[in-house]
Amino acid sequence: MTVMGLETFMSGCGQIVMPTGMSNLLTLLVAIQAAALASSDGSLRYDPKYYVDIPLRFSVKETTLAFDALPRSQNNTIPPKALDQFVKQFFDVAGNDLIPSTPKDFNPSPPNFLPQVQNAYARKWALKVHGLWLELTRKVSPSVAKEPNQHTLLPLNYSVVIPGERFKEAYYWDSYWVIKGLLVSGMTDTAKGVIENLMELVERYGFVPNGARVYYENRSQPPLLSMMIRAVYGKTRDQTLLKRAMPILLKEYAFWTSGRHEVKVRDNNGDEHRLSRFWANWDAPRPESFTIDVNVTQGMSKSREAQLYHDIATAAESGWDFSSRWMEDGQNLKTLRTSKIIPVDLNAYLFQMEKNIEYFAKILGNQTTEMRFAIAAKDRQRAIQKVLWNRKKGQWYDVWLHPNRCSYSETDNRTVVFEWKQKRRTYISNFIPLWAGILPKGDVRKEKVIEALLDSGLVLPAGVATSLKNTGQQWDFPNAWAPMVDMIIEGLEASGFLTGKLMAKNISRNWLRSNYVAYEQVGKMVEKYDATSCGKIGGGGEYNPQTGFGWSNGVVLSLLHKYGWPANEPFICEDQLEIR
Ligand SMILES: *[C@@H]1O[C@H](CO)[C@@H](O)[C@H](O)[C@H]1NC(C)=O
Ligand SMILES: *[C@@H]1O[C@H](CO)[C@@H](O)[C@H](O)[C@H]1NC(C)=O
Ligand SMILES: *[C@@H]1O[C@H](CO)[C@@H](O)[C@H](O)[C@H]1NC(C)=O
Ligand SMILES: *[C@@H]1O[C@H](CO)[C@@H](O)[C@H](O)[C@H]1NC(C)=O
Ligand SMILES: *[C@@H]1O[C@H](CO)[C@@H](O)[C@H](O)[C@H]1NC(C)=O
Ligand SMILES: *[C@@H]1O[C@H](CO)[C@@H](O)[C@H](O)[C@H]1NC(C)=O
Ligand SMILES: *[C@@H]1O[C@H](CO)[C@@H](O)[C@H](O)[C@H]1NC(C)=O
Repeated sequence: MTVMGLETFMSGCGQIVMPTGMSNLLTLLVAIQAAALASSDGSLRYDPKYYVDIPLRFSVKETTLAFDALPRSQNNTIPPKALDQFVKQFFDVAGNDLIPSTPKDFNPSPPNFLPQVQNAYARKWALKVHGLWLELTRKVSPSVAKEPNQHTLLPLNYSVVIPGERFKEAYYWDSYWVIKGLLVSGMTDTAKGVIENLMELVERYGFVPNGARVYYENRSQPPLLSMMIRAVYGKTRDQTLLKRAMPILLKEYAFWTSGRHEVKVRDNNGDEHRLSRFWANWDAPRPESFTIDVNVTQGMSKSREAQLYHDIATAAESGWDFSSRWMEDGQNLKTLRTSKIIPVDLNAYLFQMEKNIEYFAKILGNQTTEMRFAIAAKDRQRAIQKVLWNRKKGQWYDVWLHPNRCSYSETDNRTVVFEWKQKRRTYISNFIPLWAGILPKGDVRKEKVIEALLDSGLVLPAGVATSLKNTGQQWDFPNAWAPMVDMIIEGLEASGFLTGKLMAKNISRNWLRSNYVAYEQVGKMVEKYDATSCGKIGGGGEYNPQTGFGWSNGVVLSLLHKYGWPANEPFICEDQLEIR
């Protein structure tokens, strides 16, 4: 299908090749996205994602004909008024195919809510954060299943809990922290529904897509489904859930440990290890950020362009979009190499998945599966210690594969790598193995990890920073993200050392105060905070900071549940103590 406007937009790059795999629906929406950018005078905030989220009122064919018939100026842009009118006439507002819904298990003042939170300000705020589930819970409109070609939203049977604002659909890894919060809020059924939706997606796709939109179906996100199931099982002891989940988890496990996701590397002794990497099944601009991605690759050759698009989509699969972590030169998006990296965090998540499957199989009395996954976890732990661990530095480093010294073997379906190197850069992901319970042998080495974290410069007055580099990207300094903060706290808590436990509690206290003071100032929970300063929200990246916000709310509730807050301990930034 050709759509006018898109050609114009891309004509600067010569020949127009539409990405393979893009449906007529996405092609049309992306063309409108490009037209909106071209015809805007820059006075309005422009979000490319908006244009791939708008539901069609009529068929794709009718809408495309109407779009092609719009008047165009000499320079081939559509007059803003005409475009605006067209969008109003042919589309609903983005998000209108999600219907606000009050979960049945929501209670505005739940019984026995956070009994250990005794400070009055903290209690009042915790109840407000709890109340936000009402604003974030939606049902997918029946029209989506009825007319799937007129929506990019994927149909789902159970209520979805969205992160918030521009993220008005279910997301994969966000859901883990949403579920932790829902469980504190006593909303076990809603939590189970969130899991059920994700399991249905695995049945459909063989993996959990990044989010519940058609334009997310060619990549996943950090694999935490088994953790979600473990969290709900911990509360309910519901074996039916485990039975239903088992074949689904095995399917998801195969996705992450086969094909391009799995890499075979040889260590210094010549022993082979299997580890995984992120790998999006996409080498075109991301539809939801099409105009941005096309802009990034300007002037590149076709093959270099495809490579960069692939690494952009792969960075989105990692959850860290974007970060200096994936950039060869540590600062420029054009040097992304995401798919040539064996990431520490992904392998810690997969180790955790293996342990969870082993645990579930044990409960279900399936010894074959239990054994298989006990061995898989041991193998991965060994691989992580041989390849990613750095004894001198007391932490784990991402490994960079030599771009040319590897080959993909069709016979055993795996990439074999001959040359690789640890890249010794400081990221909070270097410490995620703590959370997964992977620790070096011996108390001295174990304690060294805690010291390394303390000395890393990442632990700051208002949380843990993502990196030490301020690149303007959102997964870099000085931003701190709730999921990372939560995993670091849990990892330190589980380390078995008093210093670790004290650090965990202190980070939690600093984080909660900062989230609270920011809430008082802007009236909202946000997706990321500034680790350097209590009460300051984060910034940077390809879109404006978003409010809502699913995982931040979940972590607040979960930390308040874990540590409580005494009545006499002030709930305010330390430098503001005199004010109150
Ligand atoms: C994207 O994913 C969908 C669904 O899994 C699949 O049908 C399609 O072939 C994929 N596209 C590409 C370009 O791989
Ligand atoms: C295209 O032409 C229209 C009408 O002449 C003008 O208002 C607009 O600024 C032009 N846009 C660009 C990008 O040159
Ligand atoms: C909803 O549930 C029904 C019955 O279990 C199932 O057949 C259908 O595939 C589900 N729909 C979606 C969108 O998952
Ligand atoms: C290779 O992996 C793909 C999925 O990545 C799978 O569909 C295919 O069956 C595998 N082939 C072999 C020979 O294992
Ligand atoms: C395209 O990139 C340039 C810098 O390379 C930037 O100034 C401009 O705002 C970008 N445009 C869009 C639409 O992203
Ligand atoms: C154990 O699980 C595997 C994988 O799902 C399955 O093939 C096998 O039949 C199960 N064994 C028993 C005894 O249930
Ligand atoms: C706790 O965090 C604050 C703020 O960064 C810091 O000043 C203090 O030294 C920390 N205390 C401990 C015991 O780590």
